[in-house]
Amino acid sequence: MNNEINEAKSRFEKIMLQQLERVKMMKDEDKWIDYNALKPVIIGVCYGDGIGVEISKQAETVLKTLLKEKLESGKIEFRDIEGLTIENRAKVEKAIPEDVLEELKACHVILKGPTTTPQEGDEWPNIESANVAMRKELDLFANVRPVRIPSEGIDWCFFRENTEGEYILGSRGFNITDDLSVDFKVITEQGSERIIRMAFEYARKNGIKRVTAVTKANVVKTTDGRFSKVAKRIAGEYRQYGIKQDEWYIDIMAAKLLDPARRKDFRVIVLPNLYGDILTDEAAQLQGGVGTAGSANVGRRWAMFEAIHGSAPRMVREGRAKYADPSSMIRAAAMLLSHIGFPSYGKKLNMALDICAQQEKKVVITGRDNGATGGEFTEYILDWVNNGGLEAAWNKYMSIL
Ligand code: IPM
Ligand code: MG
Repeated sequence: MNNEINEAKSRFEKIMLQQLERVKMMKDEDKWIDYNALKPVIIGVCYGDGIGVEISKQAETVLKTLLKEKLESGKIEFRDIEGLTIENRAKVEKAIPEDVLEELKACHVILKGPTTTPQEGDEWPNIESANVAMRKELDLFANVRPVRIPSEGIDWCFFRENTEGEYILGSRGFNITDDLSVDFKVITEQGSERIIRMAFEYARKNGIKRVTAVTKANVVKTTDGRFSKVAKRIAGEYRQYGIKQDEWYIDIMAAKLLDPARRKDFRVIVLPNLYGDILTDEAAQLQGGVGTAGSANVGRRWAMFEAIHGSAPRMVREGRAKYADPSSMIRAAAMLLSHIGFPSYGKKLNMALDICAQQEKKVVITGRDNGATGGEFTEYILDWVNNGGLEAAWNKYMSIL
């Protein structure tokens, strides 16, 4: 028994020393990248695997159409990044192969398709998720996930902490004995502060008067307790802007998202990693399914834009990949455009998506051959993007809701 405890102690020590190193790095973080000052802004595109290939291609087409002039003037450059497939990752037994990581780091922003995340017992080696690895490697600490249902007055923006919580050491837990397994949850002062501050800044800039923190601090007292305390501390700084902060436990929050009388009052929601993972799937389902939601993974130096869902290998096996909904990746593309300094393009794209998927519905995706292909849907979106009447049509749609 002593041997096992000693082995566990030495593993624990190593892990904690690395975490303290990370804290040190967060304490002297770099400045934010300035896209205005860059020429070119390099956009890396990784298709991922499964339906990722189809839907990322559609989003890439949309980006290239909207950025046509910027491409011609040399302001933007696209780079294809291959090798982030499950086949290749399994072959080298790495979440992200070394050469791919280097190519990613040479870009400024990345459009990334879904990638398969294996689990013990799958046909693949049990490697770490490529998403999780990329978020850590590029220090993409904020996972920003908007969910909007205009007809119900819902306009949520989730700020999911993206580099800590149960995820950071998700592949580093271990069995102490044949019977006892341990994983870790890590929350730091710096990691909490940067995501919570970003949520408050978003509220301030958008005139939103409420920021909701979600924890389970009554039970998970130390880590969630810290997150909760930091939220209260930062809230103090923003009281002067009339922004109020409240806190909900994750269980009741999951219930409240289903409560039509209360849910539209939430606006900005900030939460640790795993709670953010779970709650944003629920929120996206209310909006029409995870296939309709995109996300921005933002750090100071890099940013990555992706769907919030996985690679749906079953759709590929059943020959349905071309019927997959590209909306999630196109929403991610809209976030990318706004992030690199073209908010009017991002806005246009979101308007076209609202009109096509929620109002006009001339071309409908069902995920099967009784619906349109992703390519047909993308053409439909682009027709609206190029339609001079887009803004007027959108305003009209919003006014009748
Ligand atoms: C997400 C996904 C990932 C996550 C998976 C694929 C590892 O569910 O982006 O929400 O859990 O973060
Ligand atoms: Mg998820």
